[in-house]
Amino acid sequence: MTDIRDYIRTIPDFPHEGILFRDVTTLFLHPQGMRDAIDQLLAPYPGQQIDLVAGLEARGFILGGAIAYQLGLGFVPIRKAGKLPGAVLSQAYKLEYGEAVMEVHDDAVQPGQKVLLVDDLLATGGTAEAGIRLIEKMGGEVIGCAFLIDLPDLGGRAHLEGLGMKVHALTA
Ligand code: PRP
Ligand code: ADE
Repeated sequence: MTDIRDYIRTIPDFPHEGILFRDVTTLFLHPQGMRDAIDQLLAPYPGQQIDLVAGLEARGFILGGAIAYQLGLGFVPIRKAGKLPGAVLSQAYKLEYGEAVMEVHDDAVQPGQKVLLVDDLLATGGTAEAGIRLIEKMGGEVIGCAFLIDLPDLGGRAHLEGLGMKVHALTA
């Protein structure tokens, strides 16, 4: 079984000095590593009802798209502000290295739908929280948040668990 740590590299001082950037594009390049990562991301949810997969821009689109295909479900892109063409809901959030706004089409999730939220990395949890808030504004229920990487020192897991979320990450 693949240990995804073997396929992820750390690049210092990107995008700002002092940040150790976890680069997952090397995992995306590796066909078997990628397949195993998708299987491992889905491992906690056998038999669980999931109606939609939501992915956070940008790498959450790659992982979430593959997961949606695997589950035979639709995919909801949660995007940086100004990218989506239809009517949107917006949510501001703080990052490890800045501030931003996430948006989603306001009709992407129907009330009561159970949504699996996917991204590559959990740091402070601000991005995921923005996604959760957007899904909940539409009446959706986030049944789990799945990440390749958790950076526990930045407190994201504790923050999301404090919001009542179930967090699944393949590696710290
Ligand atoms: C990274 C990562 C997560 C987010 C995690 O994306 O892909 O989406 O940071 O950080 P947080 O837990 O502190 O919110 P980034 O903001 O670098 O944007 P990108 O995907 O457009 O590169
Ligand atoms: N997003 C926030 N912190 C990050 C990090 N250290 N590496 C990759 N993405 C990130």
